[in-house]
Amino acid sequence: MLSVVIWIGGVTFVTLVLIPTLRRSYFRIDQLTIFNSIENRFASIARVMVLLAGISGFYMIYKLDAWDRFTQIQFFWMHAMVFAWCLFFLALFVIEPFILKNHGRMVKNGHSITDLKKTYIAHSVILVLSLLTILVSVLGAHGFFY
Ligand code: HEM
Repeated sequence: MLSVVIWIGGVTFVTLVLIPTLRRSYFRIDQLTIFNSIENRFASIARVMVLLAGISGFYMIYKLDAWDRFTQIQFFWMHAMVFAWCLFFLALFVIEPFILKNHGRMVKNGHSITDLKKTYIAHSVILVLSLLTILVSVLGAHGFFY
């Protein structure tokens, strides 16, 4: 839970505070540089948190011997957690290091990514999915769905 709090809390901050602030005209010129340096720092923290959440999550399944939940529809929230985790794993360990690193170069080369609009949309989608996952997981873990 601690890792989920730190990690999704960070996503909330980046989505609702950092990106909207940078998109204001005052910061427009430097927005990608400022965004990259702040988000890169958070991404390192998030990577550790994602690994910790994955390890502790699988340890709980092992301890509870709860593998058969993945075959039962009332435990859809277990699938939701694993799905959300996979999204972040892909984003932080594959897409960001191997694909988005080229963003900086693209900007220098004049292909301006102007207003962080796509970044804002992507972060909003992933934030909503994460918050929904937390909601159904808390309900599920406390017996709401059976
Ligand atoms: C591979 C990834 C994950 C695994 C294997 C996993 C596994 C688990 C397990 C076994 C539980 C305990 C359920 C129970 O008490 O019956 C749990 C609880 C929970 N997990 Fe995950 N989880 C993972 C990722 C996530 C993610 C990404 C989130 C949030 C976006 C999340 C949020 C929660 C919440 C909110 C609870 C409920 C805590 C409670 O109210 O007792 N988990 N998880």
